[in-house]
Amino acid sequence: MSEERTYWEGRLSDAYSLDGVGWQGLGEPFNRWMYRVRRRLFLSRLRPLVEGRAPDVLDVGSGTGFYVERWLELGAGSVTGSDLTETAVGRLGERFPALDFHRLDLSEPGARVDGRDFDAISAMDVLFHITDDAKYERAIANLAAMLRPGGLLVLTENFVHGEPLRSERQVSRTLATIEGLVRAQGLEVVERRPVFFLMNGPADSDSRVLRSTWGLTTRALTRRPALGGVVGPLLYPVELALASTVREGPSTEMMVLRRSRR
Ligand SMILES: C[S@@+](CC[C@H](N)C(=O)[O-])C[C@H]1O[C@@H](n2cnc3c(N)ncnc32)[C@H](O)[C@@H]1O
Repeated sequence: MSEERTYWEGRLSDAYSLDGVGWQGLGEPFNRWMYRVRRRLFLSRLRPLVEGRAPDVLDVGSGTGFYVERWLELGAGSVTGSDLTETAVGRLGERFPALDFHRLDLSEPGARVDGRDFDAISAMDVLFHITDDAKYERAIANLAAMLRPGGLLVLTENFVHGEPLRSERQVSRTLATIEGLVRAQGLEVVERRPVFFLMNGPADSDSRVLRSTWGLTTRALTRRPALGGVVGPLLYPVELALASTVREGPSTEMMVLRRSRR
């Protein structure tokens, strides 16, 4: 078993919850509010692109199935889920018995789901966990290969403008690097919009204020996770207001791409 898989199997079997797949250690209440922001923005940005089309969808790195549920809400014709871990695939099969789930390491050469292709694919908070650059490039190629011509890919990344940020489990690559890789696979950027401003780490910002505010927030929530039930609802409307007006965010952003028809 790969080292990455061992890590994710352990992490998800210790906490198969929004805290396990979200910002680990900040507690379920704050993570639930983060996921409320994600839900609102995912639905409002994807609805105009897929409504009435009943797309065949693949979700990659499904975790607890948060985006599987969102695609069902959007009226997908079929939803197939996948994850690196047997832990997630087993739990997802119990939670959504009518859907198909596959164990898939997106970064492996030629990774596919039963040789199928899809109208839309989501890879949400997954790609920055692929720390090896060659594997990352392969993951992008695999995503493009599973899309039908004209199909949509939606992903989240930090798209940093400065130097890439590397840690043991996460690499925030630059906007330029990611744009280069997706274009090389025949994917055109439809839109890139912020998801978080104050409720997630400011990976793409030098602002001392943002960095120290986030530092204080994470320290407080780590000590007292219940505070998330107070801080979350206060920040939620602020995040949504900023996300609908500001074009460049300091943190995670959502990118929608389309595979060219050629
Ligand atoms: C941060 S969680 C996000 C889960 C879900 N997409 C969400 O947003 O709630 C990352 C997920 O990606 C999965 N994952 C990590 N590396 C992967 C890979 N190379 N191929 C497929 N899935 C992977 C993990 O097992 C985990 O479930």
